[in-house]
Amino acid sequence: MYPKSKVGYWKERSLSSEYQEAYDNIIKNIPESGSTLLDVGCGTGEILKRVWKELDYGLLIGCDATYEMLKGAMEKLKSENIPARIERKWDLKLLNSKEVVLLLEDVSDMQIPKQIADTALFTFPEIFSNSKKWAGEGKIKNEIRKRGYEFNDIKKIIKKLMIHRNIADKIKNNGRFISVEYDVQYRNSFLESRVIYNKISFAEMISLRLENAQFFESAKVWSDTEGKLEDFIEEKPGYRIFSMSRVE
Ligand SMILES: C[S@@+](CC[C@H](N)C(=O)[O-])C[C@H]1O[C@@H](n2cnc3c(N)ncnc32)[C@H](O)[C@@H]1O
Repeated sequence: MYPKSKVGYWKERSLSSEYQEAYDNIIKNIPESGSTLLDVGCGTGEILKRVWKELDYGLLIGCDATYEMLKGAMEKLKSENIPARIERKWDLKLLNSKEVVLLLEDVSDMQIPKQIADTALFTFPEIFSNSKKWAGEGKIKNEIRKRGYEFNDIKKIIKKLMIHRNIADKIKNNGRFISVEYDVQYRNSFLESRVIYNKISFAEMISLRLENAQFFESAKVWSDTEGKLEDFIEEKPGYRIFSMSRVE
């Protein structure tokens, strides 16, 4: 899914001191233990590596739609002596193992079963998807209208909600969802899609309740993905760590 050039670019970027600091902050927000952790769009496997080394989980599942990314993640984990393998298919037997399983999965249609993860991660997403309709899209649109929310870019909002719902589906009740987004401290309407976490009631619509959202200032963990810094001169760029609970 990602072109080769982008894979290399992202690998290098994730190793920069600024991203490494961001991963330190992310790890601090992940519950310390559990039986299963799911990392959607796991990329280079940097967070899986850290979770394995620093926290206490059984099975770690890394999903990504780019095979090259999974291969890179595999190399990284192996070089750290972490038991890891790439699997083509989900198998229930995996649930009892203590290892890292990497799966080629598209977030729009994940084969892993519902409610298996104690914790799910979705960090620095840059998600590619065909502009196909998402299952349940109409219902979500109606919910948004019913609540009277107005958005300039409703397609973007729907996509975001559907992705979050798909991931939320994989989390056990009362489990945790950590999502990390590029953001600015003082928002303007251009970044309206970010407001989704505050404005829309996740609990009612997609079974998530926002518990905490912490902003970290960083011009580097932001700039080349989100636009020109000059456009945000009055605002502090960076990223925000959202901590949510799955609620029935
Ligand atoms: C910007 S990288 C972030 C990687 C990692 N989460 C991190 O924080 O280092 C985004 C990742 O999402 C993956 N991705 C893009 N579209 C996807 C999709 N539709 N389903 C699953 N993964 C996807 C890309 O291949 C890439 O590895």
